[in-house]
Amino acid sequence: MIDDDLDRIMAVMEAAFDPAYGEAWTRRQVGDALVMPGTHYLLIGADGTAPGEAAPAAGFALTRGAVDEEELLLIAVLPALRGQGIGGALLRRVIAEARARGADRLFLEMREGNPAESLYRRHGFVAVGRRRNYYRRVTSGPLDAITFRLETN
Ligand SMILES: CC(C)(COP(=O)(O)OP(=O)(O)OC[C@H]1O[C@@H](n2cnc3c(N)ncnc32)[C@H](O)[C@@H]1OP(=O)(O)O)[C@@H](O)C(=O)NCCC(=O)NCCS
Repeated sequence: MIDDDLDRIMAVMEAAFDPAYGEAWTRRQVGDALVMPGTHYLLIGADGTAPGEAAPAAGFALTRGAVDEEELLLIAVLPALRGQGIGGALLRRVIAEARARGADRLFLEMREGNPAESLYRRHGFVAVGRRRNYYRRVTSGPLDAITFRLETN
């Protein structure tokens, strides 16, 4: 992990997550996660391919792996660039890389009502569980977390 990539992840992080839900990670949390074995990140540029060394990222994804399954911890695209397929391209790369590392299943947890749900479902994720009142909001009541699973093979 090079510092430049942490900068590029944090630039997207700070713009992409609504503060009302407290979902954004700090630079320290991302840096600490990325030194753990089995944690991987992906960057994507505005054209849907990996950004060149000097180019900013349009989006990123962060995953954590166990032996035969991985978890998508975070996925985000800059607000101004949404709805153009960048998130979908990123998710396809996440799935392909997890499969290549030997993961049979990919999990993710999403707050109920997140519009990202249609993206996940379109890529084959199915809802397999719900944690009641998992997300505490700053301004109003708690929201459930929904667990999605994708069989990668
Ligand atoms: C989820 C996210 C990565 C999708 O990125 P994207 O580049 O807009 O994705 P795509 O263009 O490939 O697909 C857009 C799909 O996402 C959905 N979507 C979610 N939020 C959207 C937004 N703000 N604008 C446009 N589409 C959005 C659309 O419904 C669309 O689904 P559809 O094609 O089935 O209609 C992006 O909205 C984002 O960064 N959200 C904030 C962070 C977040 O909540 N991440 C998920 C939890 S970690």
